[in-house]
Amino acid sequence: ILWIIIAIICSYLIGAIPFGYIIPKLFKGIDIREHGSKNVGSTNVLRVLGAKYGIPTFLLDCFKGALPIIIIRYMLGMPELFLISDTYDISIVFGAAAAIGHIKSIYIGFKGGKAVATGVGAVIAINPIIGLSGIGLFFIVAFSTKYVSIGSVVASFSVAVMMWIGVLIKEIWIPVPNLTISYESQIINLVAISLIVLLIIYMHKKNFIRLMNGTENKIGQKKIQNI
Ligand code: G3P
Repeated sequence: ILWIIIAIICSYLIGAIPFGYIIPKLFKGIDIREHGSKNVGSTNVLRVLGAKYGIPTFLLDCFKGALPIIIIRYMLGMPELFLISDTYDISIVFGAAAAIGHIKSIYIGFKGGKAVATGVGAVIAINPIIGLSGIGLFFIVAFSTKYVSIGSVVASFSVAVMMWIGVLIKEIWIPVPNLTISYESQIINLVAISLIVLLIIYMHKKNFIRLMNGTENKIGQKKIQNI
Protein backbone atom coordinates (compact mmCIF):
# COMPACT_ATOMS: atom_id res chain seq x y z
CA ILE A 1 0.00 0.00 0.00
CA LEU A 2 2.95 2.33 0.72
CA TRP A 3 4.18 2.18 -2.87
CA ILE A 4 0.69 3.01 -4.10
CA ILE A 5 0.62 6.15 -1.94
CA ILE A 6 4.11 7.17 -3.12
CA ALA A 7 3.11 6.50 -6.74
CA ILE A 8 -0.05 8.60 -6.33
CA ILE A 9 1.98 11.51 -4.89
CA CYS A 10 4.57 11.26 -7.72
CA SER A 11 1.76 11.13 -10.31
CA TYR A 12 0.24 14.24 -8.76
CA LEU A 13 3.60 16.05 -8.86
CA ILE A 14 4.10 15.15 -12.54
CA GLY A 15 0.54 16.20 -13.42
CA ALA A 16 1.02 19.46 -11.53
CA ILE A 17 3.76 20.70 -13.91
CA PRO A 18 1.88 23.66 -15.41
CA PHE A 19 2.99 23.66 -19.05
CA GLY A 20 0.10 25.99 -19.87
CA TYR A 21 1.66 28.51 -17.51
CA ILE A 22 5.35 27.79 -18.21
CA ILE A 23 5.25 27.99 -22.03
CA PRO A 24 3.53 31.41 -22.33
CA LYS A 25 5.72 32.77 -19.50
CA LEU A 26 8.96 31.41 -20.92
CA PHE A 27 8.47 32.28 -24.57
CA LYS A 28 6.20 35.31 -24.46
CA GLY A 29 6.64 36.63 -20.94
CA ILE A 30 2.89 36.61 -20.30
CA ASP A 31 0.85 35.20 -17.45
CA ILE A 32 -1.82 33.08 -19.14
CA ARG A 33 -4.01 33.53 -16.05
CA GLU A 34 -4.62 37.11 -17.18
CA HIS A 35 -5.59 36.39 -20.78
CA GLY A 36 -8.46 34.86 -22.74
CA SER A 37 -10.48 32.54 -20.53
CA LYS A 38 -7.65 32.85 -17.96
CA ASN A 39 -7.50 29.05 -17.86
CA VAL A 40 -4.10 27.40 -17.53
CA GLY A 41 -4.77 25.00 -20.37
CA SER A 42 -3.74 24.32 -23.94
CA THR A 43 -7.05 25.63 -25.36
CA ASN A 44 -6.39 29.01 -23.83
CA VAL A 45 -2.72 29.02 -24.86
CA LEU A 46 -3.82 28.22 -28.42
CA ARG A 47 -6.48 30.91 -28.27
CA VAL A 48 -4.12 33.58 -26.96
CA LEU A 49 -0.80 32.66 -28.60
CA GLY A 50 -1.76 30.45 -31.54
CA ALA A 51 -1.02 26.87 -32.54
CA LYS A 52 2.75 27.30 -32.31
CA TYR A 53 2.46 27.42 -28.53
CA GLY A 54 -0.94 25.77 -28.06
CA ILE A 55 -0.10 22.46 -29.71
CA PRO A 56 3.14 21.83 -27.77
CA THR A 57 1.23 22.72 -24.58
CA PHE A 58 -1.47 20.20 -25.48
CA LEU A 59 1.09 17.48 -26.25
CA LEU A 60 3.06 18.09 -23.05
CA ASP A 61 -0.15 18.15 -20.98
CA CYS A 62 -1.16 14.84 -22.60
CA PHE A 63 2.28 13.41 -21.97
CA LYS A 64 2.21 14.21 -18.27
CA GLY A 65 -1.08 12.30 -17.98
CA ALA A 66 0.42 9.27 -19.69
CA LEU A 67 3.86 9.36 -18.03
CA PRO A 68 2.92 8.15 -14.53
CA ILE A 69 1.08 5.20 -16.06
CA ILE A 70 3.99 4.36 -18.35
CA ILE A 71 6.52 4.54 -15.49
CA ILE A 72 4.40 2.55 -13.08
CA ARG A 73 3.63 -0.17 -15.60
CA TYR A 74 7.33 -0.57 -16.34
CA MET A 75 8.16 -0.67 -12.65
CA LEU A 76 5.55 -3.35 -12.16
CA GLY A 77 6.88 -5.29 -15.12
CA MET A 78 3.83 -4.60 -17.22
CA PRO A 79 5.21 -2.79 -20.24
CA GLU A 80 2.35 -3.78 -22.53
CA LEU A 81 1.37 -0.16 -22.93
CA PHE A 82 -0.96 -0.71 -25.79
CA LEU A 83 -2.57 -3.82 -24.51
CA ILE A 84 -6.24 -3.33 -25.13
CA SER A 85 -7.41 -3.60 -21.61
CA ASP A 86 -8.26 -1.25 -18.85
CA THR A 87 -8.85 -3.82 -16.22
CA TYR A 88 -5.61 -5.43 -15.25
CA ASP A 89 -4.23 -2.86 -12.89
CA ILE A 90 -5.22 0.37 -11.20
CA SER A 91 -3.48 2.66 -13.70
CA ILE A 92 -6.47 4.95 -13.92
CA VAL A 93 -5.87 6.00 -10.33
CA PHE A 94 -2.43 7.36 -11.29
CA GLY A 95 -3.88 9.11 -14.32
CA ALA A 96 -6.53 10.61 -12.05
CA ALA A 97 -3.80 11.80 -9.64
CA ALA A 98 -2.00 13.49 -12.55
CA ALA A 99 -5.28 15.12 -13.62
CA ILE A 100 -5.84 16.43 -10.09
CA GLY A 101 -2.25 17.76 -10.18
CA HIS A 102 -3.13 19.65 -13.35
CA ILE A 103 -6.32 21.08 -11.83
CA LYS A 104 -4.77 22.02 -8.47
CA SER A 105 -1.08 22.54 -9.15
CA ILE A 106 1.15 22.85 -6.13
CA TYR A 107 3.59 24.87 -8.25
CA ILE A 108 1.15 27.71 -8.99
CA GLY A 109 -0.74 28.13 -5.75
CA PHE A 110 -3.10 25.19 -6.29
CA LYS A 111 -4.56 26.80 -9.38
CA GLY A 112 -4.59 25.06 -12.74
CA GLY A 113 -6.61 23.98 -15.75
CA LYS A 114 -9.43 21.57 -16.41
CA ALA A 115 -7.37 18.44 -17.08
CA VAL A 116 -8.87 17.58 -20.44
CA ALA A 117 -5.48 17.11 -22.19
CA THR A 118 -3.96 15.40 -19.14
CA GLY A 119 -6.97 13.09 -19.00
CA VAL A 120 -6.62 12.36 -22.71
CA GLY A 121 -2.97 11.33 -22.21
CA ALA A 122 -3.88 9.05 -19.32
CA VAL A 123 -6.71 7.38 -21.21
CA ILE A 124 -4.53 6.83 -24.31
CA ALA A 125 -1.88 5.14 -22.14
CA ILE A 126 -4.54 2.93 -20.58
CA ASN A 127 -6.67 2.16 -23.60
CA PRO A 128 -5.73 3.83 -26.89
CA ILE A 129 -8.93 2.79 -28.64
CA ILE A 130 -11.06 4.59 -26.07
CA GLY A 131 -8.61 7.52 -25.93
CA LEU A 132 -8.56 8.03 -29.69
CA SER A 133 -12.34 7.61 -29.94
CA GLY A 134 -12.65 10.34 -27.31
CA ILE A 135 -10.39 12.64 -29.33
CA GLY A 136 -12.39 11.92 -32.51
CA LEU A 137 -15.62 12.71 -30.74
CA PHE A 138 -14.09 15.86 -29.30
CA PHE A 139 -13.24 17.16 -32.78
CA ILE A 140 -16.67 16.32 -34.18
CA VAL A 141 -18.53 18.02 -31.33
CA ALA A 142 -16.15 20.97 -30.91
CA PHE A 143 -16.08 21.85 -34.59
CA SER A 144 -19.77 21.33 -35.18
CA THR A 145 -20.77 23.47 -32.18
CA LYS A 146 -17.71 25.80 -32.45
CA TYR A 147 -17.19 25.47 -28.70
CA VAL A 148 -14.14 23.64 -27.31
CA SER A 149 -15.78 23.34 -23.91
CA ILE A 150 -18.80 21.44 -25.28
CA GLY A 151 -16.44 19.11 -27.16
CA SER A 152 -14.39 18.54 -23.98
CA VAL A 153 -17.39 17.82 -21.78
CA VAL A 154 -19.14 15.50 -24.26
CA ALA A 155 -15.90 13.63 -25.05
CA SER A 156 -14.96 13.26 -21.36
CA PHE A 157 -18.39 11.92 -20.48
CA SER A 158 -18.27 9.49 -23.42
CA VAL A 159 -14.86 8.23 -22.37
CA ALA A 160 -16.25 7.34 -18.95
CA VAL A 161 -19.17 5.52 -20.58
CA MET A 162 -16.80 3.68 -22.96
CA MET A 163 -14.61 2.64 -20.03
CA TRP A 164 -17.61 1.26 -18.22
CA ILE A 165 -18.85 -0.61 -21.28
CA GLY A 166 -15.31 -1.82 -22.05
CA VAL A 167 -14.87 -3.29 -18.60
CA LEU A 168 -18.31 -4.85 -18.50
CA ILE A 169 -18.12 -6.35 -21.99
CA LYS A 170 -14.59 -7.67 -21.55
CA GLU A 171 -15.46 -9.18 -18.26
CA ILE A 172 -18.35 -11.05 -19.78
CA TRP A 173 -17.30 -11.88 -23.34
CA ILE A 174 -13.65 -11.30 -24.05
CA PRO A 175 -11.32 -12.92 -21.57
CA VAL A 176 -7.80 -11.72 -22.42
CA PRO A 177 -5.17 -14.43 -21.99
CA ASN A 178 -2.51 -13.91 -19.32
CA LEU A 179 -4.43 -11.05 -17.88
CA THR A 180 -4.92 -10.68 -14.18
CA ILE A 181 -8.31 -9.14 -13.98
CA SER A 182 -9.27 -8.59 -10.42
CA TYR A 183 -12.74 -7.52 -9.50
CA GLU A 184 -11.36 -5.01 -7.01
CA SER A 185 -9.10 -3.32 -9.55
CA GLN A 186 -12.00 -2.97 -11.96
CA ILE A 187 -14.12 -1.32 -9.29
CA ILE A 188 -11.24 0.97 -8.31
CA ASN A 189 -10.67 1.91 -11.96
CA LEU A 190 -14.33 2.59 -12.65
CA VAL A 191 -14.71 4.70 -9.52
CA ALA A 192 -11.53 6.64 -10.40
CA ILE A 193 -12.54 7.29 -14.02
CA SER A 194 -16.05 8.32 -12.98
CA LEU A 195 -14.82 10.71 -10.31
CA ILE A 196 -12.22 12.32 -12.52
CA VAL A 197 -14.65 12.79 -15.39
CA LEU A 198 -17.18 14.35 -13.02
CA LEU A 199 -14.40 16.64 -11.77
CA ILE A 200 -13.44 17.62 -15.34
CA ILE A 201 -17.08 18.40 -16.11
CA TYR A 202 -17.40 20.36 -12.86
CA MET A 203 -14.29 22.38 -13.82
CA HIS A 204 -16.26 23.60 -16.83
CA LYS A 205 -18.87 25.36 -14.69
CA LYS A 206 -17.73 28.81 -15.81
CA ASN A 207 -17.91 27.64 -19.42
CA PHE A 208 -21.52 26.53 -18.88
CA ILE A 209 -22.38 29.95 -17.46
CA ARG A 210 -20.67 31.68 -20.40
CA LEU A 211 -22.44 29.41 -22.87
CA MET A 212 -25.78 30.38 -21.35
CA ASN A 213 -24.83 34.07 -21.42
CA GLY A 214 -23.52 33.84 -24.97
CA THR A 215 -20.05 35.05 -23.89
CA GLU A 216 -18.08 31.84 -24.48
CA ASN A 217 -15.24 32.23 -27.00
CA LYS A 218 -15.96 30.42 -30.26
CA ILE A 219 -13.48 28.47 -32.37
CA GLY A 220 -12.16 30.74 -35.10
CA GLN A 221 -13.42 33.86 -33.38
CA LYS A 222 -11.18 36.78 -34.40
CA LYS A 223 -11.54 38.94 -31.34
CA ILE A 224 -10.65 37.00 -28.22
CA GLN A 225 -12.58 38.06 -25.16
CA ASN A 226 -10.83 38.28 -21.85
CA ILE A 227 -13.46 36.73 -19.65
O1 G3P B 1 -10.03 21.97 -22.23
C1 G3P B 1 -10.47 23.13 -21.67
C2 G3P B 1 -11.61 23.61 -22.52
O2 G3P B 1 -12.65 22.68 -22.49
C3 G3P B 1 -12.11 24.94 -22.16
O3 G3P B 1 -11.05 25.84 -22.01
O4 G3P B 1 -10.05 28.07 -22.03
O5 G3P B 1 -12.29 27.70 -23.09
O6 G3P B 1 -12.07 27.63 -20.62
P1 G3P B 1 -11.39 27.39 -21.91
